[in-house]
Amino acid sequence: MVLPIVGSEEVKVTPWEAEAFVDYDRLIKVFGAKALSDEEIDLLKGLAGELHPMVRRRVFYSHRDFDVFLRMFKEGFKCALYTGRGPSGHTHVGHILPWIFTKWLQDRLGLHLFFQMTDDEKFWHDEKQELSVTNRLAYENILDLAALDLDPRKTHVIIDSEDIRYLYPIAVKVAKKITYSTQKATFGFTDSTNVGMVFYPVLQMTVAFLPSELYGEDVYVLIPAGIDQDPYWRIARDIASSLGYPKPAQIHNKLLPGLGPEGKMSSSKPETAVYTTDDPEVAKQKIMKAFTGGQPTVELQRKLGGNPDRCSIFKMYEMMFEEDDVKLQERYHACKTGNLLCGECKAELAERVSKYLIDFQRKREKARNNLSDFLLRTKFNPPKVSK
Ligand code: TRP
Repeated sequence: MVLPIVGSEEVKVTPWEAEAFVDYDRLIKVFGAKALSDEEIDLLKGLAGELHPMVRRRVFYSHRDFDVFLRMFKEGFKCALYTGRGPSGHTHVGHILPWIFTKWLQDRLGLHLFFQMTDDEKFWHDEKQELSVTNRLAYENILDLAALDLDPRKTHVIIDSEDIRYLYPIAVKVAKKITYSTQKATFGFTDSTNVGMVFYPVLQMTVAFLPSELYGEDVYVLIPAGIDQDPYWRIARDIASSLGYPKPAQIHNKLLPGLGPEGKMSSSKPETAVYTTDDPEVAKQKIMKAFTGGQPTVELQRKLGGNPDRCSIFKMYEMMFEEDDVKLQERYHACKTGNLLCGECKAELAERVSKYLIDFQRKREKARNNLSDFLLRTKFNPPKVSK
């Protein structure tokens, strides 16, 4: 489904679709978000003690009220993290990118994370999808959170189709604040969109207010997520104060490009995505076949150099698989000057990714034994709405 964001028809970034190499500066303007500034980065460094490479490199690059969130945190107000996943398939490395940073925030700032699994959304979104499938995938996807070492005592997963009693008391109030015309204008719904999809955004917004109800006090919520999810938060922020909740803050990450010639890494194009469940050998092959920013021949590559700025392989290093800034810089330079050939660069990444997957999959399987420790319903009672 191609959903234009009204007012910015050329920008193809919606909750359901995105290009590979997006003009992020433009997107910030179109979406009305703010670029992450040195000031916020310093504030984060002061509180966290160090900086995550994803912040240093501006993989997380824009925000709404991240500065306010950090100040509230510093002053001792109650804060929490919120993110989520539409379980339409197995998880790929593009999905875990924001979760890696979320886990870092959880550790560094000692925050609880509320994590929404939208098995309903993915069922409604795809005509051919079965709810039993998205629900099963929600549980599979929880294993990925465990494999990332998110702390089960501080990570609370909500599965929409099963945990609606946690959301509904809040959702009824949220829904009353949103008109159909706002939904249409924000998400591009049409007369043939099913009403499940039309209602769904209410549930995604509701989780931003859930911590305040669960703790019975104002909780400042930060949402680390791809900028494609921003439309939900624009509405959530508009209605928050009228419902008596703090406005949720966001920090947006860039989307990991897919390994094919175009598009973000996407479950709808499995050959362009490295799944956490891929056999490490299969993952290697996908990487070796990836589309790069290189020249068509070795001779031309040596002569003209490659284009790391438009290369899915370089982006994998930059966004996830090279922590060392100096080494990343060297790789960039070696590519541009034609000293590094795509084949070598891919082979090295393939090796790293396959090692990563072997370790990840071991932890992932182990987590099947304590999966229920991650479920919100095993730890909290449903909220009684006070506001
Ligand atoms: N709609 C998101 C998706 O399709 C899932 C989601 C629910 C989410 N709540 C969220 C993503 C909060 C980021 C932050 O993947």
